[in-house]
Parts: sequence; structure tokens; C-alpha cells
Amino acid sequence: MTHKLKLGVLISGNGSNLQAIIDAIAAGSLDATVQVVISNRRHVYGLQRARTAGIPAITLDAKHYETFDDFNRALLGELLHHRADLVVMAGYMKLVSSHVLDAFPNRVLNIHPALLPAFKGAHAIRDAFAAGAELTGVTVHIANENFDEGPILAQREVPILPDDTLHSLESRIHEVEHRLYPEVLQDIATGKIQLCVRPCGARYQRRACPC
Ligand code: GRF
Repeated sequence: MTHKLKLGVLISGNGSNLQAIIDAIAAGSLDATVQVVISNRRHVYGLQRARTAGIPAITLDAKHYETFDDFNRALLGELLHHRADLVVMAGYMKLVSSHVLDAFPNRVLNIHPALLPAFKGAHAIRDAFAAGAELTGVTVHIANENFDEGPILAQREVPILPDDTLHSLESRIHEVEHRLYPEVLQDIATGKIQLCVRPCGARYQRRACPC
């Protein structure tokens, strides 16, 4: 049975992955609603995308909070206030603290433009290209308190072609991201991917969690 997901999407910039999620919902291929979009940066295009789609769009600037924990408490407050049941990091360039992770056990997801654990970090596409790798890709994973770590839910390979430029590679990776993230979310909605409600640490949760 499909369970309609209530997404809280975290962004820091352009929001093309957010747009892919909005578009998949509109097309009927993703059973979800975006309850709220929260950006840690003001005036980013992703906020505009949210507003255009009629989704509440909020900026929370960490500079306005004394500590990282205070900032994350505010973030959690907004996610709960807007009744999100799954947190989707989509180009969100910050970590989430244990406050958020504990309130959403195994239910904070991230997308990364490389085949983790290879090429972690903020410049994954550029790094894979500069390293002369022949293969890179996209990973969707459950987030933890470290950057680009946590149980992997899905990966899709993207070959680096001999005549690729950084720009052409970026385009192909983003295309794959825009298909993969909505697909993984829909697999969660349908129960094909089952996320344990407790932080049991099961690695690859395509079946009922053993805990
Ligand atoms: C994506 O490549 C995503 O994998 C990475 O940051 C980028 C965000 O792009 N974490 P956008 O804001 O969704 O357009």
C-alpha cells in the first residue's frame, strides 16, 4: 500500500533537485507532498521554485542563532510545525544535528553527486573529473552527523566519457539525480524501500528491518 510522504526539503541554492521532486509529484509519479522548503541561505532560487509551486518557503540563517544546536532546534521546529515525516536534503550544504536526526530516525535523506564512499565533499563532480576517473555517479543515502555518510539506499552509475568536459559531465549527473531522487522517494512511499523507524543501523534497507 502506498503511503503518501510528507516531505520537508532542505536546500541551500538552485533547487533543481527540489524542482524534480515537485515535478514528479505534479506528474503523479511520486506520492508525496512537499510540506515546507527550508533554506539556510537567503534569496536562493530554490526558494522561488517553492513559492511558485505554492509551497511554504522559509529561510533559517545560522548566523541568527548562537549555536549550531540552537539553529537545528529551530530547523526541527519548522519541520514539525509543517508536519513533515521525511526530511530530504537537496543541495543542503550543512550537516543536521542529532536533534533533527533523533526526531527523524533513518528519515533524513541526502543526495550526493558521486558513487559514495568515493569523492565525498562539496566538489564531488569536479574531483572525479580531475582525478581522471572513468566512472562516477549518484548516491541517495540516509544522512548521519557526518558529511556524505550513512546507509546507502540507491546508487546509479554515470560513465565519464573521453570527450566529456566538466560541464557535460555535470549535466549528465544532474539528469540522473533528477530521476533517481524522486524514484527512491517513491520506493519509500510504496514500501519497496523500508526505512526502519529506529536508528538500528541496518545498512541497506530494501526489506523489513531486522531490528
Ligand atoms: C546536487 O548536485 C546535489 O547532489 C548536491 O548539491 C547539488 C544541488 O543542486 N548535494 P540543486 O540545488 O538541487 O540544483
